Amino acid sequence: MGKRESISIGLMGLGVVGSGVAKTLFEKSDAIAQQVGCPLRIKKILVRDLAKKRDFDVFHHLLTTDPEQIITDPEIDIVIEVVGGETEAFEYIKEAISKRKHIVTANKEVISKHSLELFALASKNKVDIRYEASVGGGIPLVAPFQRDLLANNITAIHAIINGTTNYIVTRMTKDGLDFATALRQAQELGYAEANPANDIDGVDAVYKLAILATLAFRTEIHPDDIYYEGISRLTARDFRYAKELGYAIKLLAIAKKEKQAIQVRVHPAFVPEDLLLANVDGVFNAIQVEGDLVGRVIFYGRGAGSSPTASAVVADVIQLAQNIYLESRPRPQLKLYKAKKLIPISEIKTRYYMRVTVADSPGVLAQISKILGDHSISIASVIQKEADEKAGTAEIVIMTHPAQESAFQKALQRTLRLAVVKEIGNFIRVED
Ligand SMILES: NC(=O)c1ccc[n+]([C@@H]2O[C@H](COP(=O)([O-])OP(=O)(O)OC[C@H]3O[C@@H](n4cnc5c(N)ncnc54)[C@H](OP(=O)(O)O)[C@@H]3O)[C@@H](O)[C@H]2O)c1
Repeated sequence: MGKRESISIGLMGLGVVGSGVAKTLFEKSDAIAQQVGCPLRIKKILVRDLAKKRDFDVFHHLLTTDPEQIITDPEIDIVIEVVGGETEAFEYIKEAISKRKHIVTANKEVISKHSLELFALASKNKVDIRYEASVGGGIPLVAPFQRDLLANNITAIHAIINGTTNYIVTRMTKDGLDFATALRQAQELGYAEANPANDIDGVDAVYKLAILATLAFRTEIHPDDIYYEGISRLTARDFRYAKELGYAIKLLAIAKKEKQAIQVRVHPAFVPEDLLLANVDGVFNAIQVEGDLVGRVIFYGRGAGSSPTASAVVADVIQLAQNIYLESRPRPQLKLYKAKKLIPISEIKTRYYMRVTVADSPGVLAQISKILGDHSISIASVIQKEADEKAGTAEIVIMTHPAQESAFQKALQRTLRLAVVKEIGNFIRVED
């Protein structure tokens, strides 16, 4: 049995996640103490503004604006980093590890960019880093990859891992809203930040995919390795046509392994509407993983929010505290293989939806088909949409068979140069 009377925690950040964590540690203190073997005690809480009014203020006397009060306190065993952002959080974590503190973090940016350096530092200092909440909020993902799926060769991940964008595309699908209106609605409901760029441009999903792909393929996937596009060029029309064709449009984070080569990308995609992923709506997340032994498994739930994220953070804290109490050695971090071969976006092969506005005159389709044919792209189906008589234009929607991205992009450029083509309305990759 352990000899500790209590285990001390330094909490960095008391915002959405931090206050959920503080509340959980406070309200469930007896149950947690039973699981650990001794009580957990929050000793200090780092904030930026001491005067700020807070909904959960039980720990007001513990607040500080000085990170050193946590980092240099020899009594603190575990530091929970939920301040967010990259630079300061990274420094705090490194300093805390150097002072031999175990770390729990929800910080996807720091983990996706700096995990190898942090794991090495943690190993040197014989402490542990846990980051379950950094991807998928309350959905268990990091632990399953580190444990339950270890015997598998993971071949693919298809994930909806950004609740803000999934809320927006859901409203565009169900209510026929345009992008700007759906975004405004998401902001009014608190699902999108005042500056939503990181979410709608796909950057948030990139950080999370980097973490998942690193775990899945056991090789370092850095955010810079990931090709990405956001959702702002999607229109109500694309959603209408997708539905007519039997698809939903989702912002997908995709990681695939073919032999030893890996492709990682985040972009809007057509998803057949009978697939489970196509029916993941609103702010919910779903992560579909394929392994050679397990087949397909899907993790579904709330990918953000105070309580779901606290669920993951506090679980990490409990496990670390159990180890400290039992004086167990930190578990080894994930073993990573040597450098990967990444497949650039220009070399991926997929199907495409393309929407083209053309002059409403005979022979137009033949000209576009010829260009596609010249680039070895065959057409799976064509729909001519309603003509705009006043403008003398018509809209053509084409679904292709699988084609190489570089060939498709060249064909798009040539199509755009045709005199009869007014505009390439959009193109979207298809994930069958
Ligand atoms: N929100 C979610 O649902 C969610 C889900 C999963 C993961 N995460 C991750 O969790 C982390 C925290 O997110 P959050 O939504 O809780 O953020 P937040 O609401 O903005 O809270 C940040 C907290 O950190 C404090 N803080 C920020 N910078 C600081 C600094 N330089 N020095 C001292 N204190 C500082 C703030 O102090 P004040 O209170 O005084 O302003 C605040 O208490 C991020 O890494 C985020 O990506 C969030």
